[in-house]
Amino acid sequence: MSETAELNVGGKTYTLPVIEGTEQERAIDISKLRAESGHVTLDDGYGNTGSCKSNITFIDGEKGILRYRGYSIEELAVRSTFVEVAHLLIWGELPTSAELQRFSNMLTENSMIHEDMKFHFEGFPRRAHPMAILSSMINATSCFYPELLDSNYDTDSLARQAANLLSQVRTIAAFAYRKSRGLPIIYPKLEYKYTANFLHMMFSHPYRDFPLDPEAVRALDLIFLLHADHEQNCSTATVRMVASSKANLFASAAAGVCALWGPLHGGANQAVLEMLEAIHREGDDGSRFIAAAKDKNSGKKLMGFGHRVYKHYDPRAKIIKQACDEVLARLNKSDPLLDIAKKLEEAAMKEDYFVERNLYPNVDFYSGIIMRALGIPVEMFTVIFAIGRMPGWIANFKEVAEDAKGRIYRPRQIYTGKTLRSYVPIKERGQAGS
Ligand code: SDX
Repeated sequence: MSETAELNVGGKTYTLPVIEGTEQERAIDISKLRAESGHVTLDDGYGNTGSCKSNITFIDGEKGILRYRGYSIEELAVRSTFVEVAHLLIWGELPTSAELQRFSNMLTENSMIHEDMKFHFEGFPRRAHPMAILSSMINATSCFYPELLDSNYDTDSLARQAANLLSQVRTIAAFAYRKSRGLPIIYPKLEYKYTANFLHMMFSHPYRDFPLDPEAVRALDLIFLLHADHEQNCSTATVRMVASSKANLFASAAAGVCALWGPLHGGANQAVLEMLEAIHREGDDGSRFIAAAKDKNSGKKLMGFGHRVYKHYDPRAKIIKQACDEVLARLNKSDPLLDIAKKLEEAAMKEDYFVERNLYPNVDFYSGIIMRALGIPVEMFTVIFAIGRMPGWIANFKEVAEDAKGRIYRPRQIYTGKTLRSYVPIKERGQAGS
């Protein structure tokens, strides 16, 4: 006999099913609540609302657990690669060597964007933010590859769409960067794998390839891997929302890019670097900024801190913080901002304000230090996040698209506006009582 919950409202008692996931998470299923009771629930920011069941990623915010398809982020970070994790997230299993080779070949075959897409880059102003270019060009991709709008999503069709999007998001990002610097675009090379090809397209000279330091390639691959998926975050929930209307993968991913751009979400990695640079420039030892971040009237937040789900250290932040020291040492670089970030974390962790609110470093707090060490400009940080998150968005899109009983996402609301009133002709408006 499955467990139930009882709701007493309006003098009546309603019995609601309780469901439990494979990790013993529990939810009260309110699918029939309105039909039976005339009530909906209200949950600002959806902090208490599950929008779906999903088999892709599991997070335990209290214990700082993150698993992709059951594999811990700690183990994947050390033993796997971004492309292998992309396969795991999209198709649910770590690939065999034959499957990995096939997927890698598909990514290589799709690394060039349609030549006519270049004209769009000509039209963007130099100072256009690359996230605006990225969302525009992902959506534009479907104009050049109408065959990828096939909505039957059989195995081959979705594999082609996934490979095209995952490979071309990297090329679009690199082209956007080159255009923003007034540099000639650099085409992908067939002999380079995913992450190496991105660095090549970003930093090579038309007549001399960028020297690809294996440490730099590995560091960026780790950043992509750590960002690959994260349950129903704002941008992934947006991708599912758009996918639920049966819109295509490119439209859904373009919407995800727009949601990710916000400084409360993926845009935080750019905001963290700008915060650290300001603290460094102003000679602040961090204490002035922390005082401002605690002051509600300051309009400042300690960017890269806090999380809706993690009420402890974000496991990704722990991995990235450790990687910062290793990458800087291996690249023989130092960065005063890393020392500032560490001091900021240490100081914040002594402040009741942060401890009482369970505000710890999240994935964005240290990631920019590594990206800076790789020569990636700050305005490209959230683009790097979007490239990394693409497999998660594709996997969630696929989960929605393959759900034959799936319904369009259409939340309800509680109306708090004006009640019924009659039209007032313009000549009578502005008079008392109208
Ligand atoms: C990502 O959801 C995901 O999984 C996202 C992500 C992913 O991989 O997809 O993990 C990636 O987006 C990480 C988060 C990046 N954003 C930032 O670093 C921006 C700074 N952080 C905050 O804006 C905030 O912590 C959020 C947005 C991350 C979470 O916001 P919540 O859950 O809505 O929490 P809240 O704003 O209600 O904060 C609770 C309290 C408030 O104070 P009180 O009203 O209790 O007095 O904590 C305070 C907040 O003012 N607070 C902060 C703070 N974060 C929360 N105060 C100062 N600095 C901060 N960073």
